[in-house]
Amino acid sequence: MATNRRTLLKGAAALAAMPIGLRAAQASAQSTPAATPGGTPVGTPAAPLVVGTPEASLEVFSWWTSGGEAAGLEQLFAAFAAGSPAVGIVNAAVAGGAGSNAQAALQTRLVGGQAPDSWQTHLGRELQSRYVEPGYCQPLTDLFAEQGWNTAFPQGVLDQSSVDGVPYVVPVGNHRGNAFFYNKTLMESNGISVGDTMTIDEFFTAADTLKAAGVPAVALGGRDTFASVQLFENTLLGTLGPDAYIALWDDPSQWSSDGVTQAIETFARMLGYLNADQAALTWDGAADLVGQGTAGFTSMGDWAYGDFVAKGTEANVGWVTHPGSAGSFVAVIDGFTLPVGAPDPVNASNWLRTAGSAAAQTTFAPYKGCIPARTDVDTSSFNAYQQWAAADFATAVSVPSIAHGTAVIPPVQQAIFDATVQFVVSPDTETYRVTIQQAAEDAAAG
Ligand code: GAL
Repeated sequence: MATNRRTLLKGAAALAAMPIGLRAAQASAQSTPAATPGGTPVGTPAAPLVVGTPEASLEVFSWWTSGGEAAGLEQLFAAFAAGSPAVGIVNAAVAGGAGSNAQAALQTRLVGGQAPDSWQTHLGRELQSRYVEPGYCQPLTDLFAEQGWNTAFPQGVLDQSSVDGVPYVVPVGNHRGNAFFYNKTLMESNGISVGDTMTIDEFFTAADTLKAAGVPAVALGGRDTFASVQLFENTLLGTLGPDAYIALWDDPSQWSSDGVTQAIETFARMLGYLNADQAALTWDGAADLVGQGTAGFTSMGDWAYGDFVAKGTEANVGWVTHPGSAGSFVAVIDGFTLPVGAPDPVNASNWLRTAGSAAAQTTFAPYKGCIPARTDVDTSSFNAYQQWAAADFATAVSVPSIAHGTAVIPPVQQAIFDATVQFVVSPDTETYRVTIQQAAEDAAAG
């Protein structure tokens, strides 16, 4: 299910080809645009967002509890409430970056037959292995046809939303996983100029300058294992380039390449520039160091941008792609499902209709730090970060993530998480490489 660049480009081309007049008509048809950090939402529903007689409540399960995450979720809830004002919304979010706690809690509920009305999942392998193959999700074919989603989402996103051609998740937001945020004042005061892209060598030159000034160059929230894995995967991508990075997911023998060894060595070298309290901080705590100017850079998904916005520090922060990874877009796409046996099926379907709408996605995205998963939306209201991400998504090679479940199946992901925890404490390049390769080979052998 690897995302296909050509098909993603098709979606981007469709957006570019959309007549300006139509975009303007969509914009003016929006009745009461809500204020957002990036401007105003636009977009007209393709079909009614409320169908049927609502039940009393709607329970939505996610892991969106940090500043930007919670603010984004509130926007989606407000959009749903606008159409179903009498429904009591139960926010069943479980804290823990990248779903570290939520995914386990959800499994317990699903196994026990206690599904919420909808839950958050990443597209790709996570959706397929954790939820579709065990039979927890209803097909969404009719909803996709009704809402026009088969053309609203780019083909690569549709592919990742589907198993055997059947859609099972409504994509909501598209995050860039290989963003590299930096504190602008710290760079200026240390004479570091960050261009449109950054090579690995340029990064280490900057890192040495910061180190000499007593400033940690890399802020890591190592309490969230995914953050260390994300630093690794971005470094892997930045070292290998997209083609060799993508090849790893289909051919485990690629883990024995020299490029992989070089990437692991570069990762180890980066670990020499961390904040001293990395083991105690979560991803957002690490982002705070950059927002506040006590660390130079953080390699993180752009949900961190939503967090800077929530904390009012976004003006302090600049961005570039993770060193070496310009031209690639690690696509981390969140969506919501319709469970088999949803307790409130009318509300659950209406929640999905809303979450998939252009207006809700355009309102949600600047709070969350992402771009809408739909590419048929007007981008004129996007903030500068979103403009950059959207333009890059349209032209870059889209690649999957280990940390966020799209690249590998859960057992391989877990093996990489465990090995990474070990590596951060005691970096041993060959042990790390062999452990990952073994897990990938075991999975390939079934
Ligand atoms: C990702 C998810 C994002 C954000 C992040 C940190 O897995 O796709 O939406 O929530 O985790 O928690």
